[in-house]
Amino acid sequence: MVRFKSEVEASDALLFVTPEYSRSIPAVLKNAIEWGSRPWGKTSWPNKPAAVTGTSPGAIGAAVVQQHLKSVLGAQGLHLLGGEAYITFKPDLVDADNNVADESVRGFLKAFIDNFSAFASRFAATPASRAAA
Ligand SMILES: Cc1cc2nc3c(=O)[nH]c(=O)nc-3n(C[C@H](O)[C@H](O)[C@H](O)COP(=O)(O)O)c2cc1C
Repeated sequence: MVRFKSEVEASDALLFVTPEYSRSIPAVLKNAIEWGSRPWGKTSWPNKPAAVTGTSPGAIGAAVVQQHLKSVLGAQGLHLLGGEAYITFKPDLVDADNNVADESVRGFLKAFIDNFSAFASRFAATPASRAAA
């Protein structure tokens, strides 16, 4: 847990990629968010630029969990990228080399990541300046 918190604190930006469990956040991810917020007064989350995406086999592509997650992360003080990235998972979405096989999904994700990168670079901060933000 100490390592998890220090890796979060050392990061420039955080990309959350999640499946959807019971139309909400998988318990293990929620648990990690809670550990990152503790002990009281020593939360690792505030002022980090962050983005949320995810995939599920359902037609709405993990939309509900992403809304829940953004709400939880906003309450923790992260700066969230706007917009939406709901990906419907199909068996051939990812090829044997772990590349996104579908060209339109690949293009969409590239634009999403480029946008996130530009967003995060606006916060380009050292941990010290971030704390002062
Ligand atoms: C307990 C549980 C609940 C799930 N609930 C949903 C759900 O509400 N909506 C959805 O689209 N998929 C749901 N799924 C499918 C997951 O989003 C996911 O596609 C699948 O579990 C594969 O991811 P995993 O290997 O991380 O579990 C659920 C899966 C599990 C195990």
